[in-house]
Amino acid sequence: MIKVVCKGHDYSYEIKELLKLFYNLEEIIVLTEIEGTLDMNTTLIEADLKKDLKKDLEEVLKEDLIVSDMEILGDRIQVTTKVYYEGKKYEVTENKVYDSEQPLSIKKIGKNLVKRGIFQLLKSIKKTYLPWGFLVGIRPTKIVHELMEEGKGKEEILAILQEEYFLQEEKSQLLISVAEREHPFIYPIDENKVSIYISIPFCPTRCVYCSFPSNPLKQWGHLQDQYIEALCREIEETAKVLQLKGKEIENIYIGGGTPSTLNIPQLKELFKCLEGAFNLKALKEFTFEGGRPDTIDEEQLKFLKEKGISRLSINPQTMNDCTLETIGRNHTVEELKKAFNLAKKVGFDNINMDIIIGLPGEDASMVRNTMEELKKLQPANLTVHTLAVKRASKLKDEKENYLKNEEEEILEMLEITKAYAAEMGLVPYYMYRQKHMLGHLENIGYCKPGYEGIYNIQIMEEKQTIVAFGAGGVSKFVYPKENRLERVPNIKNLEQYLVRVDEMVERKKSYL
Ligand SMILES: C[S@@+](CC[C@H](N)C(=O)[O-])C[C@H]1O[C@@H](n2cnc3c(N)ncnc32)[C@H](O)[C@@H]1O
Ligand code: SF4
Repeated sequence: MIKVVCKGHDYSYEIKELLKLFYNLEEIIVLTEIEGTLDMNTTLIEADLKKDLKKDLEEVLKEDLIVSDMEILGDRIQVTTKVYYEGKKYEVTENKVYDSEQPLSIKKIGKNLVKRGIFQLLKSIKKTYLPWGFLVGIRPTKIVHELMEEGKGKEEILAILQEEYFLQEEKSQLLISVAEREHPFIYPIDENKVSIYISIPFCPTRCVYCSFPSNPLKQWGHLQDQYIEALCREIEETAKVLQLKGKEIENIYIGGGTPSTLNIPQLKELFKCLEGAFNLKALKEFTFEGGRPDTIDEEQLKFLKEKGISRLSINPQTMNDCTLETIGRNHTVEELKKAFNLAKKVGFDNINMDIIIGLPGEDASMVRNTMEELKKLQPANLTVHTLAVKRASKLKDEKENYLKNEEEEILEMLEITKAYAAEMGLVPYYMYRQKHMLGHLENIGYCKPGYEGIYNIQIMEEKQTIVAFGAGGVSKFVYPKENRLERVPNIKNLEQYLVRVDEMVERKKSYL
């Protein structure tokens, strides 16, 4: 249990996020005391504790305690952090000049000093391995793009990442190289260009780690025809508004779920709708997430090729049959290789493969085997995910039985994938982090230079509007001049989506 008292500031949300790096959420209690008055609205604390805290918090509390005290002293903001841990006291004070004309400057600098104080002390006390410093966001590359836009050079950015955010040098270098590679795909920003996402939320079976929209075919397959009909209506009606507003479609991504669960008549229906709604000839990239190899066949691949799909995903997750069985994928390594070679034969040269490290029962040698097998296939794109134990996944309930890897082993696995990617001539071109990832690590998208997945870059950096269709799709409307972003989710539930599809169109219209 750790209690935190904020004095002179209320960055309790940020502190809670930061403390999740060191504690379970249930162990964290944050109190706010601004100008000497304890916030009585804090529901988490019992009344008698509040009384005690008013007397003398540091002496009364027996548990571990953090006191974060922010003061403004002339032109400086000063933050003193004290940590009382297992009977010992640790303390650090830092200050920084702020711009009194800019209220945002106080907030930004103050918040940073508060986080730095707590992070530095806890990291040294608890000796937790945190290669990403106190960055907890999903998109750390955004910070680098911001600094690049301010005109800062590589060395300066590197220093900021390491000194202000405590990133490991290797992670700082990774961020900079990814941001540099992404840059030409994002800038100059053209408000008239948008990307399209189409969600096909059906899967042959549900994988144990997954929390994506994925309705197993056995139970939900009978709704696929109806789904395509509703989806096409949503696309056609929204496309009219996009056209009216002069929006050009730059990329389309058909994802899921597993889009290759659709049969040929269903795919024909979908592509007829897309051809009618958008100018597919002008697309920069058209991705189809084949996903699972057990859903892919030659007729379908030929159809997709003919329709202009330029980028295809065929995802192994692992090249070890026993793990495929454990995670409920219902396909074999052999099937994967066959599907990959078939796609090559049909003429797809830009194939992505997703893998996950830290899967149940896997050790470093199994990851090495996966990479060795992938090296033989030579995909143009490889996305390496670190397992995230998501709340909505089956794995969450069975975590204790399955996940036995030590943090060092997860790190070793990540290193193996990096070394193989380099050997295969692949460079990192986008990256993101997720909540509940093993080892506080990251997901990295690699590609052969020239095969960058543009849609992936756009979705990560959030500088382009993405209009999403289908159950579980999330649109993002970007207003660059106002530096504003609006997330507009579609309904996730399949049956609800079918009856409320017109509402999904109306939601999007209001943002266009
Ligand atoms: C939307 S899923 C769909 C891909 C496709 N249906 C398939 O399974 O091949 C995209 C990718 O996210 C990754 N992924 C899904 N759940 C994950 C988790 N809990 N932790 C890490 N990666 C995950 C997998 O690598 C997966 O291929
Ligand atoms: S990983 Fe892919 S196939 Fe498995 S349940 Fe998730 S979306 Fe479906």
